[in-house]
Formats: sequence, C-alpha cells, structure tokens
Amino acid sequence: MRIDLTGRTALVTGSTQGIGAAIAAGLARTGARVGINGRDRRRVEEAVERLQGDLPEGDFVPLAADVASDDGAALVVETLPDVDILINNLGIFGAKDPLEITDEEWRRYFEVNVLAAVRLTRAYLPRMTERGWGRIQYICSDSAVAIPAEMIHYGMSKTALLAVARGFAKQAAGTGVTVNSVIAGPTHTRGVEDFVHQLVDRDLPWDEAQRTFMRQYRPQSLLQRLIEPEEIANMVVYLSSDLASATTGGALRVDGGYVDAILP
Ligand SMILES: NC(=O)c1ccc[n+]([C@@H]2O[C@H](COP(=O)([O-])OP(=O)(O)OC[C@H]3O[C@@H](n4cnc5c(N)ncnc54)[C@H](OP(=O)(O)O)[C@@H]3O)[C@@H](O)[C@H]2O)c1
Repeated sequence: MRIDLTGRTALVTGSTQGIGAAIAAGLARTGARVGINGRDRRRVEEAVERLQGDLPEGDFVPLAADVASDDGAALVVETLPDVDILINNLGIFGAKDPLEITDEEWRRYFEVNVLAAVRLTRAYLPRMTERGWGRIQYICSDSAVAIPAEMIHYGMSKTALLAVARGFAKQAAGTGVTVNSVIAGPTHTRGVEDFVHQLVDRDLPWDEAQRTFMRQYRPQSLLQRLIEPEEIANMVVYLSSDLASATTGGALRVDGGYVDAILP
C-alpha cells in the first residue's frame, strides 16, 4: 500500500510533542502540509524546527494558539482556513480523587478534551463537504471504554469524543468526508516515561523498566510494552488516506489489546 497525501493540508492539534508530533511527522512524510499547534509560540517554533530537521522536504505551518478557547480556535481557522485532514489530538489527563474533584475541573476537561474538537469540527466540516473530500479523527483512549476510578473526568471526556465522532460521521454521510476515532492505549510519551520511573526502580534500563511497569500496573495489556507514538500515527495516517475511504463512523483501536473486548 502506498500512501500519498501530496496536495492535502492537515491540522494536528496539540502537536508540539508526544503522539501529536508523531502524527504530524507521519502526515508530512506522506506529503501533506501540516499545521503544528500548541499554546506556546516558542515551543511551537521549536517543534517545527525539530520536524523540519528530520524532514527537510516537509511543509509545516506554525499555529501557536490555545484551541480550547474561542479566540484561539478562531485564530487557527483564520490562519489555516482550508483543512482537508483534521486530527483532534489535543487532550489533557491526570489522576484526581473522584470525590474531591471540583466542578471547575470537570468543566475544564470538557472544554479542552471535547468542546475544542467539536468547535474545530464545526469550523472545518462544511468546507470539506463542499469539496467532497475530508478526514476528521479524534484521538481517544482506552480510558473511554475502561473508565479508571481515579480519572472518571478523563474517561468521560474520551467516551464523549467517541459519541462526537460517531455523530459527525452521520452528519457527513455520503459526502466523501470520513469521521473516525482512534483508541490509543498506554503510549511511550515523555509524561508516561516519567510516570513509569516514579513507580519502578529508576536504575533499571528503559526496556526492563517498562516491562516491569506493564506487568505490575498494566497486566491487561496484551502487548506488554508501551506503544510507540509512531504506532498510533501509522493508523492515523492510514485513516487520513484515500485507502481508508470506506472506514467511517468507527472507533479503531491501537491499544496493544488493552481493552478486553472484541469490539470497542
Ligand atoms: N500518552 C498516552 O499514554 C495516551 C494514551 C491514550 C490516549 N492519549 C491521548 O493522546 C493525545 C495526545 O497525548 P500525549 O500524551 O501525546 O500528550 P502530551 O504529550 O501531553 O502533549 C499535549 C500537547 O498538547 C498541547 N496543548 C495542551 N493544551 C493545549 C491547548 N489548550 N491548545 C493547544 N495545544 C495544547 C501541548 O503543547 P503546549 O504545552 O505547548 O501547549 C502538547 O503539544 C491526548 O488526547 C491523550 O488523551 C494519550
């Protein structure tokens, strides 16, 4: 299979690091022009420099804006009005005692993880349907279907995104625009690496540390190692391509078998 996204423009929210940066690199590698987004201008510029260093032919558009705010989203849409591939990757997470977490925090999770993606979908979907081609994806998590007691607020936001994806896929029925969600499992990002080192012996080599972490804290994973961000990106790039034209309204798992179900 050959994937060629030459001539397509993509926007990846929250792409200065982690899974978002890997998705941006994957899309650029197949020829797409890619909008790189984060809140901080300097971090966005550094991310673009890093990506450009790895992919000298890549075409990156720096988009420093908080897309969880009306103004930030408007700025992004103004700078990059025609997007063919919208990857709603931005997501925050953190453990909170469900009996202690405040209403304000609940609202923040909804605003950042759900509403930001809905707002951008509303902004970009009409032009995609006019052009008769488009790809929208939402990066979800195993926590959308296996709700952790210490992250009910996060699980709620990711379950909501599954619903949002399914609903917008219906809205886009028959238009040439596909809408899907990708359920990512425990992934090797900087934040997760720090988390692993907090829980298992710091002196262990990384491979051994992550295997110990998986065995002790994530025994339900069939992969028994963390997923590399590029492995999530591969699915996203495929779904962004013409090859995935018959896949819409779905939730596709790249979770290392973490969720104990045949269907999501
Ligand atoms: N890591 C995992 O194990 C895992 C597992 C399953 C699902 N996921 C999901 O995958 C997605 C990416 O996770 P990750 O771990 O790669 O994230 P991450 O490393 O924490 O990176 C988050 C990115 O979002 C940007 N960002 C944060 N708030 C923003 C805002 N309001 N507007 C614009 N950009 C913002 C950050 O840049 P600035 O700080 O510069 O703004 C950064 O580029 C999330 O949706 C997450 O829920 C992750």
